[in-house]
Amino acid sequence: MKMSVIGVGYLGAVHAASMAKLGHDVVGIDIDADRVAALNEGRSPFFEPGFDELLSDGISSGTLRFTTDWADLTDCRVHFLALGTPQKPDSNSADLSYIQSALASLTGALAAAGASGGGDGSRPLIVGKSTVPVGTARKLRDQVADHADLMWNPEFLREGFAVQDTLTPDRLVYGVAADDETAPEVAILDEVYRAIIDTGVPRFVYGLETSELVKVSANAFLATKISFINAIAEVCEATGGDVTQVAEAIGADERIGSKFLRAGLGFGGGCLPKDIRAFMARAEELNVGEAVGFLREIDAINIRRRERVLNLARLELQGDLAGKRVTVLGAAFKPNSDDTRDSPALDVAHMLHREGAKVTVTDPQAIPNARRRFPELTYVENCEEAMIDAELVILGTEWARFRELSPTVTMRLVHPGASIIDARNVLDPAAWRAAGWVFHALGRMSPQHSFPVQQPSWMADGCRSQKKRVAQPVAA
Ligand code: UDX
Repeated sequence: MKMSVIGVGYLGAVHAASMAKLGHDVVGIDIDADRVAALNEGRSPFFEPGFDELLSDGISSGTLRFTTDWADLTDCRVHFLALGTPQKPDSNSADLSYIQSALASLTGALAAAGASGGGDGSRPLIVGKSTVPVGTARKLRDQVADHADLMWNPEFLREGFAVQDTLTPDRLVYGVAADDETAPEVAILDEVYRAIIDTGVPRFVYGLETSELVKVSANAFLATKISFINAIAEVCEATGGDVTQVAEAIGADERIGSKFLRAGLGFGGGCLPKDIRAFMARAEELNVGEAVGFLREIDAINIRRRERVLNLARLELQGDLAGKRVTVLGAAFKPNSDDTRDSPALDVAHMLHREGAKVTVTDPQAIPNARRRFPELTYVENCEEAMIDAELVILGTEWARFRELSPTVTMRLVHPGASIIDARNVLDPAAWRAAGWVFHALGRMSPQHSFPVQQPSWMADGCRSQKKRVAQPVAA
């Protein structure tokens, strides 16, 4: 089928290449001419495992191309909308201006061409993939009604697994105005996803509003799970408990499940933080703000993790960060990505810099993006080199490369007496302490760094005996 993908940022480019892989004839459009040129040459503008092969296959077979010209889209049967909906600078709400302006261009081009969606007299179908506030799809549908039909088909892909999540998703969700399996839009999208549907992937057909809510609810739930375990991490820090063990044991209960219970520096990226904020803003507009008021706390717990690392850094460096050499391992918001949007690791690096520390950041993929955001930080490609003479090392993104670092080799590189904060709970505390490091991990702190909470006397004994069992840092 001939189709377009409007907006070839991260989501759109992966979607376009994946649709070509499914055998469709795909044209991707974007206003960014440099991005379009790069994609046409088979060069990926971002790091995503598996995407480069898909892109070059599509380009070389002629089933995938990119353009800036709306006239190239007018004979497409389906138009996927894959535009960003970032947080507005002055509020929690989602900015829908990219979608609005793309739709204006598309409908203008369709009208100018007298387009009928593939020449068979049928109307073009616009399929929204972006994450939008509930109620948006119906408004947009009314807006484009003179030129096209519109349905919503939210995308659940994770960065780092984007190709896999697009071609083998957990489920497909269709939102149609009629909330009806027999709606003609359903048959068209089934044709698009035939190869996926035939593998037995569940496909749910709902109303427009429900499909929008599925996406924001999924992200709100994931964020809640992460902040829940990070809240428990705070309590662990105050009591000598170990959050990784709490997560292991509660996650063994099938009703809870072990995924998304990794305590640490919290969530970041282009989706979870802005999506929970936009959800709160939309709920307030709908006078149901109280229903999702808990998300404010989810956001606050998440941000507190970054502040906790900053406080720990101050404690480790005798209260004064000025002039201290700190190395931050990680700039991407998560491993296997070069995305630094709302990256907890990079945020911590920047906060340390603002307090006067000499911060060196290293990351296997995200240095160019990080440098664009914070040119004032020092960036070093090689992570061992980045650690030379550091007084404090913070592991902020759990890349395999950092997990595999040798505690004994790195011990010889850093300043004598250096400490490490494992802010993602991926290193083996015993091995690092045995190598001479002063080692801390979020949610399983060494006793001297627990929160200064007033404990009731009946509790103090229990905690003291527990603390005795925690391995003590080996003096460097
Ligand atoms: C997320 C959703 O997972 C995806 O379905 C949606 O389409 C877009 O948003 P993504 O932002 O790519 O995907 O990353 P994800 O893997 O969900 O991780 C989000 C953040 O949570 C990362 O910063 C990650 O480090 C953090 N995280 C994840 C944790 O801190 N602990 C966990 O247990 C899991």
